[in-house]
Amino acid sequence: MNTNALALCDLYMVSDASLLDLPAIRRLEQACFPKDAYDFFTLLNLALSRNVLRLKAMVDNRLVGYLAGEVRDYDATGWVVTLGVLPSHTGCGIGHALLASAERAMKARITYVKLTVRRSNVQAIRLYDHCGYKWVSTIRGYYHDGEDGLIMEKNLTLT
Ligand SMILES: CC(C)(COP(=O)(O)OP(=O)(O)OC[C@H]1O[C@@H](n2cnc3c(N)ncnc32)[C@H](O)[C@@H]1OP(=O)(O)O)[C@@H](O)C(=O)NCCC(=O)NCCS
Repeated sequence: MNTNALALCDLYMVSDASLLDLPAIRRLEQACFPKDAYDFFTLLNLALSRNVLRLKAMVDNRLVGYLAGEVRDYDATGWVVTLGVLPSHTGCGIGHALLASAERAMKARITYVKLTVRRSNVQAIRLYDHCGYKWVSTIRGYYHDGEDGLIMEKNLTLT
């Protein structure tokens, strides 16, 4: 946990993100994913798609966390497309809160939530593990630098 995490994250609020948040979301993506940040057009597409849930976490009027999840009605699955918390605000529950809020919001329409995570991303894997996600498969060389992607999923009917 960051030394000042409790003070920094004291009062965070999770709510729907809108198109107006796009510049802040772009900055957050670049800070959280130095190797894999989505480009502007991908983020714009996520901001405009009807089947995408968008949640932001705000501290003192500043966007410090973002989650986008695609709801696939045809197989009752929600995919976490991106989840990031600014490095200055990690370790105080914001990632967990975004994930839990997304699960609550999608629960009426889906059974499973799935995501892909880098094999080396220990922090994220630990968060998903704590939130009840299980490893289901590995995609060899999934990322552009050749790293494997782990698929993890959670069955919402078991929670
Ligand atoms: C992975 C990521 C989203 C986690 O976000 P986060 O806000 O730090 O997650 P949380 O704070 O909910 O949980 C992280 C840790 O803080 C702890 N924590 C949560 N709330 C806490 C609180 N109130 N007090 C003390 N500790 C707390 C959790 O138990 C967890 O501890 P652990 O790592 O020892 O198990 C964030 O590190 C990140 O954005 N990383 C870069 C982008 C990335 O990798 N995204 C995932 C791609 S798949």
